[in-house]
Amino acid sequence: MLFPKGFLWGAASASYQVEGGIENNDWAQAAREGKVPVCGKATDHYNRYEADFDIAKSLGHNAHRLSIEWSRIEPEESRFNEDEIEHYRKVLRSLRSRGLEPFVTLWHFTLPLWFSNKGGFQNPNAPEIFARYCEYVISKLGNEANFWMTINEPLVWASIGYVAGKWPPFKKNIFSFHFVTNKLINAHKLAYHKIKKINPNLSVGIAKHNIFFDSDYWPWNIVISKTVCWYWNHRFLSAIDNHQDFIGFNFYNHRRFGNGPDYPKTEMGWDILPEGIFYVLQELQRYNKPIYITENGIADSTDTKRADFISNYLKNVHRAINDGVDVRGYFYWSFMDNYEWAYGFEKRFGLVEVNYETLERKIRPSAFVYKKIIETGKI
Ligand code: BGC
Repeated sequence: MLFPKGFLWGAASASYQVEGGIENNDWAQAAREGKVPVCGKATDHYNRYEADFDIAKSLGHNAHRLSIEWSRIEPEESRFNEDEIEHYRKVLRSLRSRGLEPFVTLWHFTLPLWFSNKGGFQNPNAPEIFARYCEYVISKLGNEANFWMTINEPLVWASIGYVAGKWPPFKKNIFSFHFVTNKLINAHKLAYHKIKKINPNLSVGIAKHNIFFDSDYWPWNIVISKTVCWYWNHRFLSAIDNHQDFIGFNFYNHRRFGNGPDYPKTEMGWDILPEGIFYVLQELQRYNKPIYITENGIADSTDTKRADFISNYLKNVHRAINDGVDVRGYFYWSFMDNYEWAYGFEKRFGLVEVNYETLERKIRPSAFVYKKIIETGKI
């Protein structure tokens, strides 16, 4: 199974989950109020990115996904911090100097405190506020990367924060969920226009969490499965179809309606079902855009399942490519262990293990299995 030439291989992370020292956003505030675990210094990636990128390079990666922390760039409304821009310029340059193509997310779940205090994406002006931030970053850093994602997983963020009530802003209100989702669609579209106006050559998209939905043969379950699939997987993507140059696709979950077999589970309790990625990639073909798998990974503290997980999911990615799906890259989640949101540091997704006492990094055996796939370009 050979992967196409020029395929991008890497791993992903996000600012709040790894950088450390971020206190000025809604998650840090929620931690101070005892509602979510404290993130603190995390993996101190903010100071150790050079050494971390050396590890990524040594593992054969040729791309890397990361995010910019909005609360660092715009600590108060309309006051932008040039020093932090310079920090991220160095980060992006140190990726490129190592031959790692940067994939940059502008917003990965955490909101500056001033914005969340104004209602976040419930604020009527949220799209303009968000697009202004994106425009600023691109005007400063647009030349430092080709691939930009405005939003990470809009529906995951909105459903856990506004329906399940487990993430900031801890609401349980389906109407707010719907309102906020529509604001996110508009926010993305406006940001897309502003970014393209500055540099039409940049590739701009979002990272979308899609699920493999299936059902047993009961007609009712088939109808529910198809309806939920449309809502979760396609409503947002269809709405922004004319405002994205590629599809960033995050894949973790399977949801079956009706009876079905039991599948082995990850430490998050999620089904391990590699062929799911094949079916969801096939579904994404309808958008006729290049697809990058911007996240796929497993919480596996003992590293006993990760190597097979990566190989088996990649076999199914290859199967999709053979089938004509235009997949151009794969980012394992996560480059290293990190702050797994409401679970804190307990879940271990990393190719690289982090000792949170000493901050020492240790490459897990599965990372070398992934390295071999990358270097040979085949499974
Ligand atoms: C998110 C990551 C998260 C991962 C594992 C994705 O939903 O983008 O931030 O750590 O899944 O749960």
